Amino acid sequence: MNTPTEDADRATTRPSEHALAKKLFIQTYGCQMNVYDSARMADVLAPHGFATTETAADADVVVLNTCHIREKASEKVYSELGRLRLMREERRAAGDDVVLAVGGCVAQAEGEEMTRRAPFVDIVFGPQTYHRLPEMVAKASEAREAGAFGAGVVATEFPPESKFDSLPQPSKQSSAPASPSAFLSVQEGCDKFCTFCVVPYTRGAEFSRPVAKVLDEARALVARGTVEVTLLGQNVNAYHGEGPDGRPWSLARLIRAVAGIDGVARIRYTTSHPRDMDDDLIAAHGEVPALMPYLHLPVQSGSDRVLAAMNRRYTAGDYRRVIDKLRAARPDIALASDFIVGFPGESDREFEDTLALVRAVGYAQAYAFKYSARPGTPAAELDDAIPEAVKSERLNVLQQLLADLSLDFNKRSVGTTVPVLLDRRGRHLGQLGGRTPYMQAIHVAVGNVAPHGAETHVRITGAFAHSVEGVLAEAAL
Ligand code: SAH
Ligand code: SF4
Ligand code: F3S
Repeated sequence: MNTPTEDADRATTRPSEHALAKKLFIQTYGCQMNVYDSARMADVLAPHGFATTETAADADVVVLNTCHIREKASEKVYSELGRLRLMREERRAAGDDVVLAVGGCVAQAEGEEMTRRAPFVDIVFGPQTYHRLPEMVAKASEAREAGAFGAGVVATEFPPESKFDSLPQPSKQSSAPASPSAFLSVQEGCDKFCTFCVVPYTRGAEFSRPVAKVLDEARALVARGTVEVTLLGQNVNAYHGEGPDGRPWSLARLIRAVAGIDGVARIRYTTSHPRDMDDDLIAAHGEVPALMPYLHLPVQSGSDRVLAAMNRRYTAGDYRRVIDKLRAARPDIALASDFIVGFPGESDREFEDTLALVRAVGYAQAYAFKYSARPGTPAAELDDAIPEAVKSERLNVLQQLLADLSLDFNKRSVGTTVPVLLDRRGRHLGQLGGRTPYMQAIHVAVGNVAPHGAETHVRITGAFAHSVEGVLAEAAL
């Protein structure tokens, strides 16, 4: 069996330049961890001759990397699979075929069940087994050669240790283009068991990668052009990876070490749990210049009764105290959150408590969701479901308030000059896009300039609810 290093070494020719390059299409749903995982799947398959492609229609292997967090997210997978089934039938009729693989959290949650519901799927694999994709794809290809319409390969075991040990470094040979802003998973899984959430079941127990591995991967990213690193974990601030001294390191310590790597200009981390915001991490926001002044700290609800029923294990008051400390450490910090409306039994008064907390904190950005009962979670067993119409009404009210607050935040930034990584196309022709240090989406008029990875100074000239616009700072003088 090849070691990952040997595999990586063999990829000296770029797969895309290889006459026999096979095409890989990955459709990603869900959170940033899935985005990271999809990039790593491409890294794992690159040494086996796979280059990524933009459409399923010309791919040899199609992967759906799925999300199970809300009912709507899971349903999307089956409607997409319906389309892929048709595509597969048409291609088979034309003497061609494709390997269909479903990964991620729906695959983990359903396992064998998915091969029964969608027997034309070849491979069902969980978030902790994708390092074995080459072997799974080979098996499915053999079955395909033998004429099977669905190979029935299922791999949904835990834990994550062996996956991280087997993954190649993100390399220059990777088929994914070098990105100025990259994700780096440092922690996976969750032991918090919030009563509404599937993550502890789909991602497994909490696991932190060793510090040395994280730093190696950060250096590899920088070598390939990355300047902004976002440290990822379902519960990233519970990080406790083994340090070079053999002791567990906190996230704050890890951030300081990442900041010490030459070429890392910006650091972010997500997603954090309010209970794990320790004083050292809060202090880092005031002390580490590369740590961006933005924090996504989901509170879910402003009602203490609802928070207890969710098993969040903090009160609205505890959360407010954490926010106060963060603002004392870094006065300009922009705050973001997630909210769930219509948790079982949520009264009008309790919903008002959420609105009051939102007003008191003054978020720069936030995401609000209607509660979705997930099979197997404790909250799905609760009585007092909130009627759909009430959930929709509460969602509207909350989203309107959040939009007003982010518009206020964006308006306050008009006239300031901020460094932006212009790493993508903008909304309109002649614009490039990126994120401000405060995580605002920004569109900048640049004329005929290609996206690039250097920080550029931009003067903010206009504000909307979900973005700002600007001009290059020189042009604004
Ligand atoms: N680990 C993060 C969140 C992960 S899930 C945290 O602890 O905050 C992302 C968001 O999806 C959550 O913050 C929550 O707001 C939402 N979410 C999770 N389960 C949900 C459910 N069953 N119904 C509605 N929203 C849900
Ligand atoms: Fe889910 Fe709660 Fe864990 Fe977040 S902390 S991933 S909401 S169980
Ligand atoms: Fe979805 Fe799994 Fe992420 S359920 S939110 S893809 S951890």
